[in-house]
Amino acid sequence: MEPLDEPLLNVLKKEQQRHGYLSDHILKQVSEEYNVPISKLYGISSFYTMLRTNPVGENIIEICMSTSCFLNDSGSLKEYLEEKLGIETGETTEDGKFSLFRVSCIGCCNEPPAMLVNGEPYTKLTKERIDFLIEELSN
Ligand code: FES
Repeated sequence: MEPLDEPLLNVLKKEQQRHGYLSDHILKQVSEEYNVPISKLYGISSFYTMLRTNPVGENIIEICMSTSCFLNDSGSLKEYLEEKLGIETGETTEDGKFSLFRVSCIGCCNEPPAMLVNGEPYTKLTKERIDFLIEELSN
């Protein structure tokens, strides 16, 4: 990452938090506001997996696949989520309720495996806990 990319990355992360994903319209606005070529913003958006340029579901599930979580079975929980939701990682359910992503460490390494649901951390995950969360969010 170039040194100047970090402030832009933070801007894009904030816009994504606000809008769910980075549409062409939002990238154009950022380009104009910060006087940055839109091609550079597309480059940053496609490089970082935490940035999304496609519409997402009502609920965003991001399961951590970094070392501590992976060693504590996040791989099979990711597969469980994919099976339960009927989608692959990176996709959104047909009803638009859920999008599933894999992410790097979310800072909960002491309580693995962990995931974010709509930005909130959930730790010490089990299949039962996931069932409960999905059920809660489905209603
Ligand atoms: S490795 Fe998963 S939260 Fe840090």
